[in-house]
Amino acid sequence: MNTATPNDFDFSFLEEGFSARDIVDQKINESSMTDDRDAFYICDLGDVLKKHLRWARALPRVTPFYAVKCNDSRAVVMTLASLGAGFDCASKTEIQMVQSLGVDPSRIIYANPCKQVSQIKYASAHGVQMMTFDSEVELMKVARCHDSAKLVLRIATDDSKAVCRLSVKFGATLKACRGLLERAKELGLDVIGVSFHVGSGCTDPETYSQAIADARCVFDIGNELGFNMDLLDIGGGFPGSENTELKFEEITAVISPALDKYFPAETGIRVIAEPGRFYVASAYTLVVNIIAKKVIMDEESASDEEDEGTSDRTLMYYVNDGVYGSFNCILYDHAHCLPTLHKKPKPDEVMYPCSIWGPTCDGLDRIVEQCYLPDLQVGDWLVFDNMGAYTVAASSTFNGFQRPDIYYVMSRTAWQHVQQICSQGMPAPAEESCLEVPACCGRESSLEMPSLEMPAKPCQAHVV
Ligand SMILES: Cc1ncc(COP(=O)(O)O)c(C=O)c1O
Repeated sequence: MNTATPNDFDFSFLEEGFSARDIVDQKINESSMTDDRDAFYICDLGDVLKKHLRWARALPRVTPFYAVKCNDSRAVVMTLASLGAGFDCASKTEIQMVQSLGVDPSRIIYANPCKQVSQIKYASAHGVQMMTFDSEVELMKVARCHDSAKLVLRIATDDSKAVCRLSVKFGATLKACRGLLERAKELGLDVIGVSFHVGSGCTDPETYSQAIADARCVFDIGNELGFNMDLLDIGGGFPGSENTELKFEEITAVISPALDKYFPAETGIRVIAEPGRFYVASAYTLVVNIIAKKVIMDEESASDEEDEGTSDRTLMYYVNDGVYGSFNCILYDHAHCLPTLHKKPKPDEVMYPCSIWGPTCDGLDRIVEQCYLPDLQVGDWLVFDNMGAYTVAASSTFNGFQRPDIYYVMSRTAWQHVQQICSQGMPAPAEESCLEVPACCGRESSLEMPSLEMPAKPCQAHVV
């Protein structure tokens, strides 16, 4: 990419010894002095950097093409562009957005197997060549509108154990692949490889190894038909936070040997992936304010004067973001969101069964059906961690409720690492310790703009 300047990132520095959580406290304190207690996000871009280093450590052979659909915030895309990632774009607008940041078209895969004709033409006019397909009709459209495309055949996976299934909609069966490849040949198109997606929120790592084995079969058919098959795209599905049953490294421990077996490094086949939630989920903390409250008395136990415990009442809290906003992830992404308290409860604090509701007039707008919280007041704050994936990207302003502001932060150390990787590429594994980003990257004294200059030389792509 070229000419990235610090202003493009629009983040504030975390000063030495301060963490993103401290900024949550600072913002809450500032906001609490006014009536204007709007919900807000803190996004730690240093967390995105940490994920990138973790990715490189676990899957050194696999170049990430970040799935923009997961969270298209400019600061996130800029950070990943500087780190040398590629991008999975699903539409003209995503391509436009990524290219507006100076990303070369060779770093983009148009990974939507069913595309509008005008958008295929847009990709063609803007140099985006890699694109996925899974049907004959798509091949015919591409032959008409983009005959120099580098096509990637998306195959179906057994994603029955994934949280969000995708192969119900996309992916050719193994049986259909030969016919599709023959048709591509007849149309004079160039097929360069195979892609798959195991479903978002994968819970069974074996799905990856089976899909990699299946991809091998399709590679063999492609090669036999005279294509130069040299790209494997293993899609997304990687967890983005630590509160999932299956950890990232448990998945990569299955992927790496499967790649070595079916696509050994010596074959020179380029392997890419399309991680979305992996990169952004844990970088975002959402902070909401309690705008209304109801106390529902349980009539039976309330009449029992002996019972002064917690079971006589249920509390309903109404907060200023809901399922039509950031918490759309509950409906679309099957997310289970639980808050933490901003104010630490006292050890003997009584906890009540509570439900948490969004601000709109719809009864569907419920964030938590039941959890246990103390007796909080209107004006108190609740904090939701791990809110970066499939949240801001799909939120609406239904009922006139505006999307929360997002404050981006990064420690100076992380910023220096981003610049270093941008100008010199990823370090060799032996030198990696020089890029350790401290877990707690700094408390900021004021929300100032970064002052470190980007390298004079434009950042180049470091996609291997
Ligand atoms: C084609 C494609 N690639 C990548 C992703 C990102 O998946 P995840 O966020 O699970 O990594 C998606 C998600 O829907 C997708 O449809």
